This record gives sequence, C-alpha cells and structure tokens, in this order.
Amino acid sequence: MTTDNTSMESVSHEDRLFPPTAAFVKDAHISGVEAYKNLYTKSIEDPEAFWSEAADELHWFKKWDSVLDRSDAPFYKWFDGSRTNLSYNCLDRHIEEGRGDKTAIHWEGEPGDSRDLSYKQLHLEVCRLSNVLKARGVSKGDRIAIYLPMVPELAIAVLACARIGAVHSVIFAGFSADSIRDRVLDSETRMVITSDGGYRRGKMLKLKNIVDEGVDGCACVKDVIVVKRGEDHPVDCTMQEGRDHWYHELVSQVGDECTAEEMEAEDLLFLLYTSGTTGKPKGIMHTTAGYQVYSYLTSKYVFDLKGDDVYWCTADVGWITGHTYIVYGILQNGVSQVMYEGAPNHPNEGRFWEIIEKYKVSIFYTAPTAIRAFMKWGDKWLNNKDLSSLRLLGTVGEAINPEAWIWYHKMIGGERCPIVDTWWQTETGGHMLTPLPGATATKPGCATVPFFGIKPAILSDDGSDVEAGILAIKEPWPGMLRGIYGDPQRYKDTYWCKWDGRYYFPGDGARVDADGYIWILGRVDDVVNVSGHRIGTAELESVFVEHKDVAESAVVGIPHEIKGQGLVAFVTVIDGRDYDDQLRKELVAMIDKSIGKFARPERVLFSSDLPKTRSGKIMRRLLRDIAEGKELGNVTTLADPSVVESLQKQYQQE
Ligand code: WT7
Repeated sequence: MTTDNTSMESVSHEDRLFPPTAAFVKDAHISGVEAYKNLYTKSIEDPEAFWSEAADELHWFKKWDSVLDRSDAPFYKWFDGSRTNLSYNCLDRHIEEGRGDKTAIHWEGEPGDSRDLSYKQLHLEVCRLSNVLKARGVSKGDRIAIYLPMVPELAIAVLACARIGAVHSVIFAGFSADSIRDRVLDSETRMVITSDGGYRRGKMLKLKNIVDEGVDGCACVKDVIVVKRGEDHPVDCTMQEGRDHWYHELVSQVGDECTAEEMEAEDLLFLLYTSGTTGKPKGIMHTTAGYQVYSYLTSKYVFDLKGDDVYWCTADVGWITGHTYIVYGILQNGVSQVMYEGAPNHPNEGRFWEIIEKYKVSIFYTAPTAIRAFMKWGDKWLNNKDLSSLRLLGTVGEAINPEAWIWYHKMIGGERCPIVDTWWQTETGGHMLTPLPGATATKPGCATVPFFGIKPAILSDDGSDVEAGILAIKEPWPGMLRGIYGDPQRYKDTYWCKWDGRYYFPGDGARVDADGYIWILGRVDDVVNVSGHRIGTAELESVFVEHKDVAESAVVGIPHEIKGQGLVAFVTVIDGRDYDDQLRKELVAMIDKSIGKFARPERVLFSSDLPKTRSGKIMRRLLRDIAEGKELGNVTTLADPSVVESLQKQYQQE
C-alpha cells in the first residue's frame, strides 16, 4: 500500500459471525448463501444476461441494442440504443400498475410538521415543476443547481429535472456560498432551486441569502426559484426582480401533466461534486440507463424491499446516498419511505426512535458516526420506544467499528435484524461490497462480499494479488461514473491509470480474510472521511495559503471518537509574522466561508517549517504520527530533523 493506515487496526481480529435468522432467510429475495453464490456466478460469467434480466423489470420506451459497449474504454456505455426516463420509472410506472395511492414519502419536518405524499401526488408535483422549468426555457441537457433542506421539494426538484432531461447538480445545504459559486461556474448552471430557509437544531438556516452571495455576478444563472419553507415560518429574504421567483406562485400557473422525455441511455442524468486529492472538487457524471438499473437492483436486493416496507435513510439528498437510496433506487421499487428534515437530537436525542415508532419503519439506513453519537447520548433515549417494526438495518459512509456494530445490532436491531454494511462511493453510483441480508453471515466492521456483477480484487501497486493492499474493481458495472464534468483526462488519470487502464481504482485500502470477506481499511490517498463526509486535505490547504500570513500548510486526518476521522492542520507562517489565536480564528473562518462548517479542523498548529524529505515532499505520515501523539520512527530521511521535534513539543503542550 502506498499510504499507511491506522484507522481500522481494531477490526483485524474480529471473528464473530452473525448469520441471518431463519425467519429472515425464508422470505428474502436472495434466500440463503447458495442462492447468492449461484446468482453471483451467473452475473460474472454472463453479465449481459444478468443485467438485461434486471433491466426487464423496468419500463423502457425502447430497449437496448447492446448491454455493455467496451469500444471506448474507460468510457463504457451501458444499454446503448435504449430510451427510458428515471422519473417515469419512479412514478408513472407505479400509477399504471395500481400503486398510485400508496404513500411514497412520509415527510417529517424538524419542528414536528408533517406531510404525506402518495405516488400520485408526488407525480403531480413533479409534473407541475417540470412544466415550470420548461416554461422558464430550461431544455434537455441544461444544468440546474438544487440547494434545499430535506423537504419534499428536494425530491420533487430532482425528479422534475430527470423528467425533462435537465441535469441536476444537488449541492448539500451545508456548503458555503463560495462552494456554490465554484459548482455553478464549473457546470455553467442555468438555474438554482433553493428555499428561504430550512430547520437545523431549532434554528433556521437562511439558504436563499447564501445562494444570493454564491451566485452574485454569475451571468449563467438566469432564474432562482425559491421554496417557502412552510407558511408559518417566514424568513427574511430579498427577491431580485426578474431573476427570483416563488416556487408556489410558479407551480400554481402551470398545467398538471407533463410527459416524460424519452432519454438516451448515456444522456447525463446528474452531476454531483465530490472531493479528490486536489483543491478542486470533481463533478462526477452519472448517466441514465445504467444508473437506473443499478440503483433499482441494489435497492431491491440489499434492502430486500417488499411492498409493505417502510424504509428510512437518514442521509441528505445532497450526498450520493440520498440520490440513490432516497430518490432513485427506492422510488423505483415503489415502497413507502420516511424523509426527515432535521437533526437527530432535536428536540431531544430520542427523535429518531420516535420517528421509527411513529411510521413503523421496517428498514433503517444510517451512518456509523450517527450510531456512535447515539451510544454517547445513552440508552435511556430508547426507553419506552417501540422499535419492533424494524426488520433490517444498514450503515454507510465509513467502516463501522465493531463496538458500534454490536450496539446497533443489540439496541436497535433487537438482535434479530441483519445489518448491511455497504461499501460504495459517489463514483460507483450504488452499493459495491455489501452483505445480502438473507444470505450473508455478517462480521462486525466488515463490508463482506461483492454485489452481483462486481468483481473486486486486492492488489499491490504493481497489480499482483495480495492479502492486504489496494482495492480494485476489475470489470465495469452499470452504476459506474461516466466521467468528470469538463475533464475527461482527469477521469482517466484518477480512476484508470493505477494499473495501466485495466481496472477501476477507488482509492481505498482493503484486506481479504480466510472466508474471502473483504475488509475496507480506509483511504490510500489524501482524502479524509469526517462523519462520513469526504474532504480532500488539499481543499483546506489551498484555502489556508490564501491568507496573507500563511506560507504553507499540510492537513491530515486523525481518528476521532464520534466523527470517525477529524482534521488537524499544520500551518507555517511567512517569516517574521506572528501567529496567535487571532490568526487561528481567521483561518477557521476561511474554511467556513470557502467550504462549510462541517470541514472545520479540530486543531490548527503553527510551526516555522514542515517536515520534508530532502526532495521537498511533505512527510504526511510523520504529521499524522505527531497529531496522534505516537512515537516517531526514523526521521533521518528528513531535510531538517529538528522541525519534527519542535512540532511535537508544541502539540503536546497545547
Ligand atoms: C468513501 C466514499 C457511499 C456513500 C457515502 C460516502 C468510504 C463508504 C464505507 C463502508 C468503509 C466506506 C470509503 C469510500 N466508505 N462506505 N461501508 N466501509 N468505508 O460516499 O463521499 O463518495 O465517500 O467513503 O473510503 O471510498 P463518498
């Protein structure tokens, strides 16, 4: 492995095995380990047959000419020649098949207001907004940014874009004005859909004001559509004449019907920006047909979705988890789901369990960082809460530590619910390594086995098979990214160059155990996972050096009790400048402004220099050791060994 990994040492000796209960296996879509193995073998030996059977469960205006076209690798094409529409498969198909009156979304606002939308009602809302977009001149291929809290209009806006073939670029509502601007300019966004505000821990986030600042002077933005977050919750915001419009006024002026556009298989469906190893986030491109089939099938099998399930994923639609496992994958399966606007600890730490009880949630999907927070808040919040409706649990975002896994299994799952620990990425579109809940015996902290059609390997830098090394994916899959917006070369360099263009390189380290289970060991690049949010250390570094007093900086990830990882920044100042708490505050404020508060470092340390090799490379491994208070090994390769000593002293003093 190219980088050291410290985060997951504790799991290497975990050997407890949790087979699914007989009751679960009996009714599961994939029932028993033999069923998984047979279908997996088929999916690898004859992927074209496997994927076309899966696709046959969905609606197509025209079927494909070929399942997989490898002629322009790594720009693979899936279901080429077909025509389809995601919004149609999420909505119209259910109405046609008699499920129109079923609840699609039980929405729960943070202050306690709620709204239920049936598939028919959701369809109507989506059609209306689609008509608004068309009336404002939006056409197929135009990019639309969505910056909304977790209100139904977020799902409606996503589906309206898909319906008319506009490309959505959802920006998580925790991102700053500067981040909005970067994304809007990179993709030349035509329109922004936002709201006056949104609730978070009892406070109103003033989203429209942030958008105003973000798009100020961006000539590409012609319209800003503003959702009013509830009649009783007015938020001050100024509406710019000609550019800004109230959502509720526009939708009242259009018709109720809008035919779904027939989209080509590789038409761009959405962009979602994510962090990499440079200061500039990448616009990950997902296209129509392959993503449609992959989000549908992974949802169906990994969550074992059945007609009477009530599913709840606590992620935000601003991240890939919400795109695939709130909107597209789940709605295509036609089940009911809960969508919650706010924080897990508002008005108190029992809120999630109340919601599960209220809506009789049967499948619950959340992040390890949330589970650790619940453990810390204490078991008393579970008293008198009826969680007996639950039958399946899931986690995503980072590896789960076995202690949190066991707590989840016992306290939330009542020792009867399988836990699916799903490893995947923004780029993969959907689950890649995951237990199949009615088939796979699970191990705490382990993402276990590949989903159908996924061919993983653990390789060394030179491409030979090893027990612990770098995770590779050897074959293309339908949900894969199709590129980085505006930068095809970066797509090739980042994901396909590691092993001469042969395999996909996700950027994670992994090991395989005696049962063939795969354990994810954490990133092997300079990407840090803070509370399941992916942050490139280079992004923070490029912000710090914009400060006039800063010469250089290096940011590293360290283990964090709740967040999984936290960030520590090492900053050197220009000769002769003072550094003090004031400078520290200024630097933190710059992160808030450039990225968002969720990317704040835990600590900012100043020094006169950073440890470097004689060739001038910053020794991040040493900085991590310092930040973790570890014994330092051999420092003789350093250009100036005394730098380390002074940094370490300073770290211990603070
Ligand atoms: C990175 C992707 C997938 C949606 C949320 C994050 C880490 C994700 C797991 C898991 C171990 C995991 C990986 C991956 N990761 N899930 N179950 N076990 N690590 O999406 O922001 O694209 O981040 O999150 O390091 O590369 P993302």
